[in-house]
Amino acid sequence: MIRTLGSLVFYTRFLRSFSALGFRRRARDWRPLAPDLSGQRWVVTGATGGIGRATALAACRFGAEVIAIARSDDKLDTLRAEAEGAGRIRPLRADLSLLREVRALVDDPTVAEGGIDVLVDNVGVLLNDFWITEENLECSLATNLLGHVVLAEGLRDAGRFGDDALVIEVSSGGMYGTPLTIEPMLAPDPDDWDGMAAYAMHKRAQVALTRAWNERWQGAPTVQVMHPGWVDTEGVKTALPGFRAALKKVLRNADQGADTILWLAAERPPIPAEGGIWLDRELQPEHEFGFTRDGADVDELNAAVKALLDDAGKGARGESGDRRVR
Ligand SMILES: NC(=O)c1ccc[n+]([C@@H]2O[C@H](COP(=O)([O-])OP(=O)(O)OC[C@H]3O[C@@H](n4cnc5c(N)ncnc54)[C@H](OP(=O)(O)O)[C@@H]3O)[C@@H](O)[C@H]2O)c1
Repeated sequence: MIRTLGSLVFYTRFLRSFSALGFRRRARDWRPLAPDLSGQRWVVTGATGGIGRATALAACRFGAEVIAIARSDDKLDTLRAEAEGAGRIRPLRADLSLLREVRALVDDPTVAEGGIDVLVDNVGVLLNDFWITEENLECSLATNLLGHVVLAEGLRDAGRFGDDALVIEVSSGGMYGTPLTIEPMLAPDPDDWDGMAAYAMHKRAQVALTRAWNERWQGAPTVQVMHPGWVDTEGVKTALPGFRAALKKVLRNADQGADTILWLAAERPPIPAEGGIWLDRELQPEHEFGFTRDGADVDELNAAVKALLDDAGKGARGESGDRRVR
């Protein structure tokens, strides 16, 4: 009951901003985007559906070569066939919930053959059931957060980014509902699994890590974090059928969800000194509720993520391949 009330308050609070109503209101003053991305090499994760697909196709239309990463060869073939414009799609199959496959991307010849100008770390899932990957990590944690860390840090350590490169982390407005956490996020209890709460924690962690990366990396590459609002995608259809049914008429389409990603890459606004998260080409605060300000320390999060990744690398976390449902 308290949870339902909390969700109601949350959705009512953000309805006019995160829905297509918010997008349309803000877009009235915009010039259409038409950047010349020719000569640029982009990497887009989760590129065959929803926001990732819209991003990959638009970047290609504007002239970029887009290394499109997803796990279905068929969907990657379809994406390549749909591409228009001066750029091209370079499909790359990987399961981004498996860290060994994410690590392998760094040295993949398609990735390594030239500098990367833009990494759109878009892949993300909300899992209502508790799944363990064959590397013994909770699947949404691995996909939404650990894989992002491995990919962005791995590409940087290997010198794969070009000059003036930009990493765009695709987070979610769901992160407004939680402070930064460490233990509940990195060691979730399968008997007390709440996929929505876990997703919000991953998305909050992306925002905190963006700030930490920018402090550490000093522009090489630059990192920005955005959220797309509420977008009608397969992900929403599968994970949040009730939410979709209630709000279907005011959900954004995938192009609207991808707009701020393309705008960030085209306009290159400076890193916001005080942090923040982009929505509809505008910087928004990292916190909307007082209770989320008192979160964990990002350095402690970094250390805990590193320890977890070292541990996962050794395959030392119990039995593999099992699925446990709440
Ligand atoms: N839609 C929204 O309202 C909304 C709101 C806030 C934030 N976001 C964020 O926006 C991002 C994109 O969301 P979306 O709604 O567009 O998602 P989506 O419709 O579910 O599409 C996700 C894409 O990622 C791929 N993918 C999923 N798991 C993968 C894995 N393990 N390995 C490789 N590829 C994988 C999917 O391919 P398959 O077909 O193989 O699954 C698909 O191409 C996510 O980070 C999400 O959290 C979305």
